[in-house]
Amino acid sequence: MTEIPIAADNTEPFVISDTVRKEIERWLAKYPPEQRRSAVVSALLLVQEQNDGWLSNAAMDAVADYLDIPKIAVYEVVTFYDMYDLKPRGKYKINVCTNVSCMLRGSSEILDFLKKRLDIEVGETTSDGKFTLRESECLAACGGAPMCQINDQHFYENLTPKKIQTIIDQLDQQNSQQESSAAVQFEQEVS
Ligand code: FES
Repeated sequence: MTEIPIAADNTEPFVISDTVRKEIERWLAKYPPEQRRSAVVSALLLVQEQNDGWLSNAAMDAVADYLDIPKIAVYEVVTFYDMYDLKPRGKYKINVCTNVSCMLRGSSEILDFLKKRLDIEVGETTSDGKFTLRESECLAACGGAPMCQINDQHFYENLTPKKIQTIIDQLDQQNSQQESSAAVQFEQEVS
């Protein structure tokens, strides 16, 4: 029996944005009209992105309603794949592959480095909310082992501790730039 996922927040209402609706429609157009559930994987990813990287129960239910499919069909997908998060995560989610090829080529060294650098364990998020560290099964990039994926999108391959250090530093820098430009914009809006 499929276990119904318990998301961290079961009460906040969720409204799918117009932009995300348009994107979901683009996916729906690829399938026969009676096969709306075929777009569920993409729709969930889009809604997850809209919801700052995680799926509340309300967000999952909104996807089910939009696609006009049973809620359980959405929950089954969410619990099958590990790219969905049921609770808030850091701005940057780092999935380090620890499957055979990556393990043989040093993924534990990468993982140990990240745990130390970020001062968290696997499954945890840094106290500033920037980074979440995860282990993952094979991400089909074995030729570039050891590798990691960031925010379920970008692959970083042939990792070494030095290379992952550079990546983390760049993300840190990117985050600081985004925060300072958001602060400038806010100041301009209120002045
Ligand atoms: S084993 Fe790591 S990508 Fe395949």
